[in-house]
Amino acid sequence: MSASKPVAFIIGYGPNVGAAIARKFKSEGFNVAISGRKVDENAAKEDGYLGISADCADIASVRNAFDRLEGELGPAAAVIYNAFSANNTTDEDPLANPYETFLNNVIVTGVNFYEVARRAKAGFEKLSADTPRALIGTGNLQPWVTFPFALGMSVGKRAMANIVEASAAAYGSRGHRFYYAHEVKGETGGPQVPPTGQAHAEVFYRIWKQKEQGPWEVCFTETGALYDRAAGKVVS
Ligand SMILES: NC(=O)c1ccc[n+]([C@@H]2O[C@H](COP(=O)([O-])OP(=O)(O)OC[C@H]3O[C@@H](n4cnc5c(N)ncnc54)[C@H](OP(=O)(O)O)[C@@H]3O)[C@@H](O)[C@H]2O)c1
Repeated sequence: MSASKPVAFIIGYGPNVGAAIARKFKSEGFNVAISGRKVDENAAKEDGYLGISADCADIASVRNAFDRLEGELGPAAAVIYNAFSANNTTDEDPLANPYETFLNNVIVTGVNFYEVARRAKAGFEKLSADTPRALIGTGNLQPWVTFPFALGMSVGKRAMANIVEASAAAYGSRGHRFYYAHEVKGETGGPQVPPTGQAHAEVFYRIWKQKEQGPWEVCFTETGALYDRAAGKVVS
C-alpha cells in the first residue's frame, strides 16, 4: 500500500454496505482499512485492505483500532461508521429487552461513535490542507421516525445524529466535515431494508469529495439520488 494515497477507514465492515463502501474507496485510489469483530486480517490483506479486528462495544478496542490504523497507514481522510447493534422486540413491547441488551445497542450504534468522532477529527488535523476529510455515519430514519421495536438502535442512531450535527456546526467551516447519511426508498420515503450497498458507496464517495460542509443530514435513494425528506420527493 502506498503511503501517499489518502486513507479510508470503514468501521463495521460486513458483506453489504461495508463491503460496497470499501470497494468503492479502494477503486478511487485509497488505502482502505476495514474493521469489525469478525474481520479476517489475512483475508483482508488478500483483498488489498488492512484488516483490523475490533469490537465497537468496547471503547479500548475502538481506541486500539485507531492506533493501529495510524501506525500502519496514517490518519484517515475518510472515516465511515457503519457498525450497529439491534435486538428487535415488538411495537407493542418496546421495553421487553433487558437493560444490558438495550445498553449494548445504544453503545455500539451511537455512544462509541463519540470516540470515533474525536479520533477522526484528531486525524483530520494531521492531514495536508488540500486533502478533503469527512466522517460519515451510516444512518436510517430513526432520528425522525419512531420504530418502537428497535428502541436501542433508535436511541443509538439519535445519539449519532446529535454528535454529527454538533460536530458539523463546530468544525465544518474548518474543513473537518461530518455527516449522517441514510437511504430511503425513492417511491415512499420509507426505510430501505436491506440497504443498497452500491448507493451508499456512490453517495459516501461523493460526500467525501464535496468541498463545503453543507447539510449534516444526507438522505438518498437506492439510485444514489438525493431525497428531500421535508418535501417527500427526490431532488436530484
Ligand atoms: N436506510 C435504511 O433504511 C437502513 C436499513 C437497514 C440498515 N441500515 C444501516 O445500514 C448499515 C449497514 O447495514 P448492513 O446490514 O448493510 O450491514 P453490513 O455493512 O453488511 O455490515 C455491518 C457490519 O457491522 C459490524 N458490526 C456489528 N456490530 C459490531 C461491533 N460491535 N463492532 C464492530 N463491528 C460491528 C458487523 O461485522 P462483525 O460481525 O464482524 O462485527 C457487520 O457485518 C447499518 O448502520 C444499518 O443501521 C439502514
